[in-house]
Amino acid sequence: MDALVLFLQLLVLLLTLPLHLLALLGCWQPICKTYFPYFMAMLTARSYKKMESVKRELFSQIKDLKGTSGNVALLELGCGTGANFQFYPAGCKVTCVDPNPNFEKFLTKSMAENRHLQYERFIVAYGENMKQLADSSMDVVVCTLVLCSVQSPRKVLQEVQRVLRPGGLLFFWEHVAEPQGSRAFLWQRVLEPTWKHIGDGCHLTRETWKDIERAQFSEVQLEWQPPPFRWLPVGPHIIGKAVK
Ligand SMILES: C[S@@+](CC[C@H](N)C(=O)[O-])C[C@H]1O[C@@H](n2cnc3c(N)ncnc32)[C@H](O)[C@@H]1O
Repeated sequence: MDALVLFLQLLVLLLTLPLHLLALLGCWQPICKTYFPYFMAMLTARSYKKMESVKRELFSQIKDLKGTSGNVALLELGCGTGANFQFYPAGCKVTCVDPNPNFEKFLTKSMAENRHLQYERFIVAYGENMKQLADSSMDVVVCTLVLCSVQSPRKVLQEVQRVLRPGGLLFFWEHVAEPQGSRAFLWQRVLEPTWKHIGDGCHLTRETWKDIERAQFSEVQLEWQPPPFRWLPVGPHIIGKAVK
């Protein structure tokens, strides 16, 4: 099976050789960082509609939280275009972190469309090192479709724990690997080296639920969902919350 995966990977690599050469020369990264926000804005506008009711239900739980300073301090980690803002209850104080500064203009638009929230700041940083944020300074961290792309899910989850106050909540929605041994998993393995370049570092075969379960939250509630987009090689999704 491994030989077959390798063979198919090489075939895909040959078919997408210019992309891999650009990546090797360091030219692809700036191109990708520029177009990816536009791609995410398009995806948000169209396909995220499917997820509206699920997200609305997940984030409705924020209403029940009492923020330490009155309003709920919420960190949107890997904020992208700010696609989740519309689902947050009024008065949340939102801090955004993303390593790609090209998202800022899309964020500004989302902020203007969601005036029920209070915006703190946009920090250009990696989730693995959020030194700009103090320990226990957040009531809620939201992380949707991000842990597939980070360098180290383990370090990001450590940082999430550091910035969350005791009893604070991490809400997540992430796509993960198809079941090992399935044909879909085989194709994820075949496509992953190329997909990572197209999808700005996105891994198809991460078993992110294991990282969340190992991260020493006091409680984890997690549900599985089938892949929402059949036209993409992304696998099932996990959705839920973890309590610090
Ligand atoms: C697929 S987009 C999801 C954006 C948004 N969370 C959403 O649900 O629409 C992945 C996001 O993660 C960000 N990202 C990639 N690596 C990251 C890292 N190490 N730390 C934090 N964010 C990261 C990307 O810049 C991008 O905004």
